[in-house]
Amino acid sequence: MTPMGVLGVLFLLLALYCGIDPFKHSAISGFPDFKAYYVDMPPLSSVPKEKDTQNLLQKSQIMFLNQIQGPESVAFDPLGRGPYTGIADGRVVFWDGEKWKDFAYTSSNRSELCDPKPSPLSYLPNEHICGRPLGLRFDKRTGDLYIADAYLGLLKVGPEGGLATPLVTEADGVPLRFTNDLDIDDEGNIYFTDSSSNYQRRNFMQLVFSADNSGRVLKYDPSTKETTALVRNLQFPNGISLSKDGSFFVFCEGVVGRLRKYWLKGEKAGTSEVLAILPGFPDNVRTNKDGDFWVAIHCRRSMYTHIMSIYPKFRAFMLRLPIPTKVQYLLQIGGNLHAVVVKYSAEGKLLQILEDSEGKVVKAVSEVEEKDGKLWMGSVLMPFVAVYNFA
Ligand SMILES: *[C@@H]1O[C@H](CO)[C@@H](O)[C@H](O)[C@H]1NC(C)=O
Repeated sequence: MTPMGVLGVLFLLLALYCGIDPFKHSAISGFPDFKAYYVDMPPLSSVPKEKDTQNLLQKSQIMFLNQIQGPESVAFDPLGRGPYTGIADGRVVFWDGEKWKDFAYTSSNRSELCDPKPSPLSYLPNEHICGRPLGLRFDKRTGDLYIADAYLGLLKVGPEGGLATPLVTEADGVPLRFTNDLDIDDEGNIYFTDSSSNYQRRNFMQLVFSADNSGRVLKYDPSTKETTALVRNLQFPNGISLSKDGSFFVFCEGVVGRLRKYWLKGEKAGTSEVLAILPGFPDNVRTNKDGDFWVAIHCRRSMYTHIMSIYPKFRAFMLRLPIPTKVQYLLQIGGNLHAVVVKYSAEGKLLQILEDSEGKVVKAVSEVEEKDGKLWMGSVLMPFVAVYNFA
């Protein structure tokens, strides 16, 4: 056979292999309905250029190392006690100043399946049984804690803790499949996100690869107990936070990498607009006492993610190659876990950026909670909370 012939045969074999994936090597084997959606990526020229060249986050203190796994959201109660955080085994735990205490849980069916395991990722197979609390918020008026559980929906627990009560498990007849974050207004209405109707949290990587657009921003009215969808067809909506004056909330668009503003009051009530193009792909957002927004960025943008986003057919082809999910994920995040947190004004102006671009100390920040001159940073993937001190 000629060299060209050999090449031709090899190419055919590769095409056949990718077509049938006999050894289930690809990142999307096991997802027969996988579809790669187009992402309307902002032009690279509109992406903020700011960098923290000093890598200031490397000065953070690593706290509670290996005492808690995957603390995604960090909250303080109305008396300033805490932090409270939801962890990989399904518990919400409370730091009483000396040690971690069990505070609440979302699943009524906990068993030895939920016992401690070596890493945050080893809990994935049982998350739907043990629960996986993500966004946490206290209602300042009542002291009740509201919990967005990735599998069990929106729940509430009293100031004494214990088993949380489910409030919402479906909306518009569609079950919540990946409840992610929430905030509460002065009347007790809950604004929350369901990241996808098709992918659950344990498959968050496939959700990112797909750019599935079934995510929703929802509102729960406690007086009528009704839930309405405010925004639909979103690609991985994630964090959500009310403005200081309550006239709007912002939410993170995880796949597009934007902060969007949804008006609650005034002429534009009920409409939304882009508030900021982010330097990367966001997780949670939290308001500080000045009314600025801290956005936790899971990873920075790259030329790779840009091209993959706008060429879904090429992305689907790449995902069918016998490349393990973990490697596809590393390509997606630019090779290594790192840390970027960004502060925006209520008008969408980038005010501050803090980084650990090599991930030497802090990695994969999920949330930034500012309190008394410190930033408390949770991470869904790490076994610690990082604390950055401005003083
Ligand atoms: C409780 O969890 C067990 C696994 O530990 C499962 O077999 C069972 O179906 C669950 N029960 C309910 C009511 O979800």
